[in-house]
Amino acid sequence: QILILDFGSQYTQLIARRVRELNVYCEIHPFNKIPEITPDIKGIILSGSPCSVKDEGSPDIDVDQFRGKLPVLGVCYGAQLMAHKYGGSIAPSEIREYGRANLNHIDTHIDLFKEITHGSQVWMSHGDTIKELPEGFDVIASTPSVRVAAYKIQGEETYGIQFHPEVTHSLEGKNLLRNFVVQICDCSQDWTSDVFIDISVDELRQKIGDDKVVMGLSGGVDSSVAATLIHRAIGDNLTCVFVDNGLLRKNEYEEVLKSYENMGLNVIGVDAKQRFYDALAGLSDPEDKRKAIGKAFIEVFDDEAHKIEGVKWLGQGTIYPDVIESVSVNGPSATIKSHHNVGGLPDFMKLQVVEPLNTLFKDGVREVGRALEIPENIVGRHPFPGPGLAIRILGDITPEKVRVLQEVDHIFIQGLKDHGLYDQVWQAGAILLPVQSVGVMGDERTYEKVVALRAVASVDGMTADWVHLPYEFLGQISNDIINKVKGVNRVVYDISSKPPATIEWE
Ligand code: XMP
Repeated sequence: QILILDFGSQYTQLIARRVRELNVYCEIHPFNKIPEITPDIKGIILSGSPCSVKDEGSPDIDVDQFRGKLPVLGVCYGAQLMAHKYGGSIAPSEIREYGRANLNHIDTHIDLFKEITHGSQVWMSHGDTIKELPEGFDVIASTPSVRVAAYKIQGEETYGIQFHPEVTHSLEGKNLLRNFVVQICDCSQDWTSDVFIDISVDELRQKIGDDKVVMGLSGGVDSSVAATLIHRAIGDNLTCVFVDNGLLRKNEYEEVLKSYENMGLNVIGVDAKQRFYDALAGLSDPEDKRKAIGKAFIEVFDDEAHKIEGVKWLGQGTIYPDVIESVSVNGPSATIKSHHNVGGLPDFMKLQVVEPLNTLFKDGVREVGRALEIPENIVGRHPFPGPGLAIRILGDITPEKVRVLQEVDHIFIQGLKDHGLYDQVWQAGAILLPVQSVGVMGDERTYEKVVALRAVASVDGMTADWVHLPYEFLGQISNDIINKVKGVNRVVYDISSKPPATIEWE
């Protein structure tokens, strides 16, 4: 495997994903919690950072512990850090070194640049630059404005690059990472979904033995894939609970329950609609609504879990981005924040947690899901928030508002599917606004509700762009909604990106 040491760059997870895309396993660890360097670690990548190596208290590590013994690739801050530590000089760059640049001098005899073309476009994003290299460091690539775009230490497989090979704007970045990981570190590219499944099923069997596991399903890809893996390992000792909270999409409960049953999962469906509506009655603050829904879910789930005799484990669909300890370097000293088990296990349940997907990114989860032959309507499903339509109905929730929004949402989502647009969108949905507007239908004045449609492109939900859906499509959907959904007389389209807006309105 490859070890990635994180200095707090926004791109660290992207490096890991690129390495995984090469079918090579890798892990991210914070720079100040370096794990033991075991023989299965074949190489190390040092990430970028928002800090300057010249800042007091900026992230620092003892590079000598692995330098020269293992191949090392420093990216941006990682490259500057090594140059700085061994006597080079780093200074703020005089001209902007941000955005696209082209490598106009490349030493193509170097393995790192094998089959990388002269003039190759790379993505720069740094405020500091390497002015002078320490002795024994050779420049191996330059751009018109950055002399030390890349260096190599003589007699070692230690490299530094000031650009970001992990972003797609570095057009041959993936080839460069392949050269490092496969040619230089000699990693075999055998980490595939099938291997992951075999290993996970074995591990789950060993860990769980003959114990019983309970798990909540949401209809989303993560919990469905996690449950299928556990089921493959222990069969019907896994009991799944799928709750209808009355805030799902139209027909979703029935359809997803059917899919789960067809997949052979041992699943209990619980109609708890009224319990959730009661818990939500009169609440309009978004956080109050979230809390009420979370509490109601735990109660319902706990009731069901208690019906299963002797259950010892709680299965969860936690994925890798939820457990990576993120490095926060905003203050004078770097701290680590753990996201582990955010809002996870209620104390009183006293179950051990099993999280078979906690080493995978979302795209890896989808690949594993497809390898497990989980139907596309589940594996390819857009993300949907746990509180469901409750955070898309601005203000208080009533069953009637839910019904109206379900109809609107259904027309929109079905339209995306019918027009082949669903898979081009990362997430889409409709929002019921707490305003009424004047309209005219036939000869009559109307005074009815307004809905907003939202469709975004994203990779991980952290940033998002609104999708430029075709006008003709939007026009047709708007017509369908106003004609078919009683109580709605106006449709608007949300053209805000995240940041500064968020994906959901609440
Ligand atoms: P925002 O609105 O923060 O959403 O840009 C980012 C992603 O997170 C989802 N989301 C939630 N998911 N519980 C969830 O399970 C929540 O309370 C929640 N709020 C937002 C949102 O749908 C998007 O995918």
